[in-house]
Amino acid sequence: MDEASRPRWTSRLSFTLAAAGSAVGLGNLWKFPYITWDHGGGAFVLVYLVCIAALGFPLMTAEILIGCAAQRSAVDAFARLGGRAWSAVGWLGVFTSVLVFSFYAVVAGWSVYSLVRCLRWSFRGYVAPPPEAFGAFMANGPVQVGLGFGFIALTAGVVILGVRAGIDRMARVLMPALFAILIYMLITSLTLPGVPRGLAYLVHLDFSAIDREAVLVALGHAFFTLSVGIGAMIAYGSYLGGRERILGIAATVTALDTIAALMACAILFPIIFSVPELEAALGDDREVSSVSMLFVTLPDLFYRHLPGGIVVAPLFFALVAFAALSSTVPPLELITTTVMERGGWRRPGAALAASGVVSVGMIACALSLGAVPWLSSVQVYVAGSKAGVLAIFDHLAANWLLPLGGLATCIFAGWVLPESTVAEHLGSDESGAPSRPARIWRFFARWVCPAGIGWILISVIRGTDFS
Ligand code: TRP
Repeated sequence: MDEASRPRWTSRLSFTLAAAGSAVGLGNLWKFPYITWDHGGGAFVLVYLVCIAALGFPLMTAEILIGCAAQRSAVDAFARLGGRAWSAVGWLGVFTSVLVFSFYAVVAGWSVYSLVRCLRWSFRGYVAPPPEAFGAFMANGPVQVGLGFGFIALTAGVVILGVRAGIDRMARVLMPALFAILIYMLITSLTLPGVPRGLAYLVHLDFSAIDREAVLVALGHAFFTLSVGIGAMIAYGSYLGGRERILGIAATVTALDTIAALMACAILFPIIFSVPELEAALGDDREVSSVSMLFVTLPDLFYRHLPGGIVVAPLFFALVAFAALSSTVPPLELITTTVMERGGWRRPGAALAASGVVSVGMIACALSLGAVPWLSSVQVYVAGSKAGVLAIFDHLAANWLLPLGGLATCIFAGWVLPESTVAEHLGSDESGAPSRPARIWRFFARWVCPAGIGWILISVIRGTDFS
């Protein structure tokens, strides 16, 4: 496909929304509130903000820049700008996408299931499920595979429709809806008695809670939450025309992602402080991060303790499903465009082939939650790895593959990309040299990002788990 016939985003705004959609996911709605709670609130948020500015933002810029400059998806983009050997980084991203998609589709399926269940409860009245129901649901192979397939089909539908009619349109509909739901939930939450304590927790600066581990967790999350490290933003960036204000766009995407994460905290913390049993449970139970909290405890809380819970509960799971869909589209788009550009396939066939590949991974993940014993108990001997295919994929991606891809990307953007390319796409001064903001970005891509990610990788080798 040559430049002239390459599809384009309908506007800078739709690209921004699509990229923000990729970034905003379960990481923002669930993991960020959890780790912030766990690390004492305000001081952790501050550390996180520094990490996202120093590591996340430059990496997001690097991926968009590479895609925009090469006008190709990741594998070909690296080859085109840096020579054939660099295409290995693109392939690493494609491989990581398959793993990420495989387990994300399963979890995304749970959000759709929960949405349907909550709609039923909202209309027919809430009946608390028996405690063993969640385990039985997880171990139900046909249901898990069916839900995963449903989500893959949804994602494939968007990718087959293409950049404009599919991804661009999805972003313009889903992202405003997502933020509208967040705002509605925030307003509901701000009427609760736990508001003063909840918000105080979020801004309370207790630096004694910040140790080496806390900084590392903030750093790892800053990296994960923006969905960088697989090259999906290279694919998205390749549909931008030549002269875009990439630094501004990347800053907006980073800001939207951060706002969504902070809103999730501002919603959940007042709820926690308004329900004494929950606060007590969170105080001494380390298991609260588990998904059962999200899919069992939270609906229970909404229906039994939150005024207007019958509206909030289904809306919340619609929010999770929207966030998940806009995060599963980018990896599938990346795999699809790779098949198109490398294999010369047309989009529908390439998207179906890509869906077929990820379906295999998804089935293995879906059946590893109890349905098939050996899939549930397999282990790989990597430091800190857990049992079961889903946990292994998550572990490999979050701890090893995403950071490795991110490290290679920032080294490439910082050291290999010619100065003139940086100047052309990030801005230049009168003499044609990179502008001051572009030079500052390059300093971060050269030194700060590799150092930060290097630290993440060293900690992973020593046994820290970011998954
Ligand atoms: N950023 C996503 C979230 O916050 C998770 C994620 C990480 C992701 N890497 C990704 C999603 C790559 C899609 C592609 O939930």
